Amino acid sequence: MSDMDDIINNLPEAIRQLIEGKPYETDDMGRSGSQVRIYDDAVLKIEKEQPKLAQMVEIMRWLDGKLPAPKVLATEVKDGYRYLLMSKVKGRMAVDEYYLNRPEELTTLLAEALKMLWSVDISDCPKTLDLSAELEAAKDLVEHGQVNMNNAEPETFGEGGFKDPAELLQWLYDNRPETDPVFAHGDFCLPNIFFEDGKVSGFIDLGDAGIADRWYDVALGYRSLKRNVNGTFGKVYEGVDPDELFRKLGIEPDWGKIRYYILLDELFC
Ligand SMILES: Nc1ncnc2c1ncn2[C@@H]1O[C@H](COP(=O)(O)OP(=O)(O)O)[C@@H](O)[C@H]1O
Ligand SMILES: [Mg+2]
Repeated sequence: MSDMDDIINNLPEAIRQLIEGKPYETDDMGRSGSQVRIYDDAVLKIEKEQPKLAQMVEIMRWLDGKLPAPKVLATEVKDGYRYLLMSKVKGRMAVDEYYLNRPEELTTLLAEALKMLWSVDISDCPKTLDLSAELEAAKDLVEHGQVNMNNAEPETFGEGGFKDPAELLQWLYDNRPETDPVFAHGDFCLPNIFFEDGKVSGFIDLGDAGIADRWYDVALGYRSLKRNVNGTFGKVYEGVDPDELFRKLGIEPDWGKIRYYILLDELFC
């Protein structure tokens, strides 16, 4: 029996009572070492507890009624693992073949998703993404040689790019952008956004959500759209122009900020 089986069999009593005997599927889309079970109308996510997860639960509760996002049905920490039972978001992920084959609908809905995030009143938002803290965390990874340069965009390191992660980190310290604060998803990539019937049906994976610069989500969303259609993950989808996102948003791309936030994220790959 694997460790994960042990962890799953160690369900907190309150959660066990809510799901016992119900059929589920296991999801292997996630890449964060978490375990996800999908029930008919609920999702159980189990992952190693860390301070960020308690904040995520707070944000999810705060978002109730503000944005389509999973409702917290029950959550508990047991033996170092957080068990979160939440409502299931309906629809299909933005990364579903259905949408990748319908670029017009996909870019319209992604722009809609960003506008929904930006319309959230942040005056009492319980969390702010702090760039200084992000840079400190990145510094820690760089100093411990934990940056995976192979997952980076091809132009980031090497010829014409940065020599190594340390040089990139220094550049990020030297070029901190002005912030235009909005409510940000924090990991605005296609697998974390769901659509149904021509509408945004939900945002999931909210561990990095909070107040951040407007261009943070735009940058990660743009990169995710690009990577999912240009063959990075194997398949090329013709006729998808990631720049369409800016046209749908009705804004001129701020390439300086887009590049900055993508480069920052490269250190966390
Ligand atoms: N509330 C939810 N509603 C529907 N599907 C979900 C929900 N939470 C997670 N999932 C499914 O589980 C997968 C992994 O969950 P996610 O929270 O994105 O984890 P990870 O941090 O591993 O990316 C998602 O891609 C999605 O398919
Ligand atoms: Mg995810």
